Amino acid sequence: MTQKTQGVAYPYFVVALLLFVLQVAMGLWLGIQYFVTVPQSVVDVFPFATARAMHTNLLVLWLLLGFMGATYYLVPEETGTDIAWPKVAYAQLIVLSVTGVAALVGFFFGWTQGKPLLEIPRPLDLVVVVAALAFLANIGTTMFRARHWTAIQGTLLGGLVFLAVMYLFGIPFYRNLAEDWYYWWWVIHLWVEGAWELIAAAMTAFILLKLTGVQRSVVEKWLFVELGLFLFTGIAGTGHHYYWLGAPGYWLWIGGIFSALEPLPIALMVWDTWKDVRHRTTPLRPRLTWVYLLGMVILHFVGAGLFGFAHTLPQINYYTHGSQVTVSHGHLAFFGAYVLLNLTFFYLAIPRLKGYANGQYDERGGHVGFWLTSFGVVGMSLAFAVSGVLQSYLERYLGQPFMVAQEPMRLWMAIVAAHGVLVVIGVVLIVKHLLTLKPMPAGTAGDLAGS
Ligand code: HEM
Ligand code: HEM
Ligand SMILES: [Fe+2]
Repeated sequence: MTQKTQGVAYPYFVVALLLFVLQVAMGLWLGIQYFVTVPQSVVDVFPFATARAMHTNLLVLWLLLGFMGATYYLVPEETGTDIAWPKVAYAQLIVLSVTGVAALVGFFFGWTQGKPLLEIPRPLDLVVVVAALAFLANIGTTMFRARHWTAIQGTLLGGLVFLAVMYLFGIPFYRNLAEDWYYWWWVIHLWVEGAWELIAAAMTAFILLKLTGVQRSVVEKWLFVELGLFLFTGIAGTGHHYYWLGAPGYWLWIGGIFSALEPLPIALMVWDTWKDVRHRTTPLRPRLTWVYLLGMVILHFVGAGLFGFAHTLPQINYYTHGSQVTVSHGHLAFFGAYVLLNLTFFYLAIPRLKGYANGQYDERGGHVGFWLTSFGVVGMSLAFAVSGVLQSYLERYLGQPFMVAQEPMRLWMAIVAAHGVLVVIGVVLIVKHLLTLKPMPAGTAGDLAGS
């Protein structure tokens, strides 16, 4: 059953996708600076730190806009009612987009709060809070009016409220810098390993429900098991960021043990999806949505679970902390877990919004985009990882100065940038494909049905 107001989601998807292109383009510019020495005149007007703030804040902004769009698509369908105030939803998108532009321009002029990934200054934070409240009120009212609760909705609402509350902890400036970092992690860690995982679980459950048509209880059963595990390991796992910032020593134990357990719920998700796919007798259709979904499940596990585990024990993190090893994990985890989650959802929702309910559109551009982008990000992350291991050894073990250790890393950073080019091309292809879906060319229907 579809609802009229689900269309509210579409402009969110469009803005998110355009910002995605800008985000990766900025990433490529950052990558180039690691092996090409940029003239000082360029650095003076556009320093690395400014471009980095743009790259990471654009990532957070477009992922959040994607989640909001997905919520506006999902909630009417789950509740069987329309969005309470569709006009507020449009207004909220405009407010957030204008805030985003203001933040980007502000970074140019040094208007920043300086906390990585959350650089936007206090006055803009307050606008974000107002927009987030409007969003939660809109969604909450829609759900409460409908009185038709499902586990998917409950999980989604819980994740969104958790996300919004954590954001508040990043707004103040704490005079003690150790405290400032401590609460910064409440936002960053508890987002990606807590609130966002809940949102991801809800969105994935919804996608599986729509793609497979299995009984709701089958999908919801594992949702509860995973949620419990995610919250249990994720919240205590925050300790893996408290090792070296002046927090008490027991965090070495708590952080080490609980974060080492974090790959478990993610692995469970892989296993569950695999079980579902293996027992199917009908072809996986629409094929493209499945490609993104399986890509997400696998790279979520590799990027967050395996690459996260690799540096989470204090004995290892002592050497790798804040090196390119961290950057490697940051890229693969964000890509596998949340970039692909949003793209999977877009590939579920956009064709339906455009009237291709059963996936009878030309899928080709989306496949090429997927493989280019995924290959690029995996290659980039592996090259970051090699350069990070080199850096840990030279800087932390041999004690070389930062810039001396950078020299042998240059080659690997060139390999990073080369893969970055593939990522940018792939992303442009995906965005173009999603925004200009075309009917299947004549004569290919039979091939697809058989694939
Ligand atoms: C889907 C694509 C991408 C995602 C999800 C992503 C995500 C991120 C994240 C989370 C960070 C912060 C890392 C940290 O603090 O540890 C970052 C920084 C960075 N990204 Fe990306 N990025 C993407 C694309 C790219 C591309 C195409 C390049 C091109 C080479 C790139 C190059 C960089 C560089 C050089 C940094 C700065 C690392 C440093 O400070 O040393 N990124 N990116
Ligand atoms: C989808 C989930 C995840 C995402 C998006 C993610 C992303 C990130 C990012 C961007 C950073 C760098 C932050 C910074 O210093 O600027 C980071 C750090 C870290 N992550 Fe994750 N992560 C995820 C899950 C995990 C998991 C499950 C583990 C452990 C098993 C883990 C272990 C770590 C550790 C130990 C650090 C600190 C690295 C250091 O000391 O420099 N992460 N993560
Ligand atoms: Fe973490």
